[in-house]
Amino acid sequence: MSNHEHREAAHQPVKRKEMSRRQFLSYTLGGATAFMAGGAVLPMIRFAVDPLLTQKTEGTFVKVVEESKITNEPQEFRFQVHQVDGWYESDPELTAWISRDQQGNVFALSPVCKHLGCTINWNTQNDNQYFCPCHEAKYSPEGKNLAVAPAPLDEYDLKIEDGFIYLGPIKPNTKV
Ligand code: FES
Repeated sequence: MSNHEHREAAHQPVKRKEMSRRQFLSYTLGGATAFMAGGAVLPMIRFAVDPLLTQKTEGTFVKVVEESKITNEPQEFRFQVHQVDGWYESDPELTAWISRDQQGNVFALSPVCKHLGCTINWNTQNDNQYFCPCHEAKYSPEGKNLAVAPAPLDEYDLKIEDGFIYLGPIKPNTKV
């Protein structure tokens, strides 16, 4: 470059890199679209994972019957529980066989046979045992498996407050 050309270049104004109108519009529109999409998608993600963040409401106790009505002879009681599992809410009806042991303590057994899950009944054979009609499993009054079934009947968690029996979740039998 000659001296003359050097001088001319030094006097020219510095060219700034300016954003074209087209670039400005596309940045602005892109940003606005991303903002609006985020606003629409984030609540959907929150809705999708919400059941995972919410605790199941199983495990609460339900008032079933007055304690004074319980005898040594097992009696069948039905009660409803409110269950919330994710988005699904239901009020299934459950059954418990409630009686007193030799010491007078109240306990409640599940009616679900431990063989293949049929429903047991009390004393249908006049032998003071629980009997399952599906494959003839038998259980003692405390739920001990006497024939066919591989395990004792499950038990309900139980508490007594102000003269009423409350039943909670099912647990393994503690009586036998
Ligand atoms: S399911 Fe009860 S005996 Fe088989």
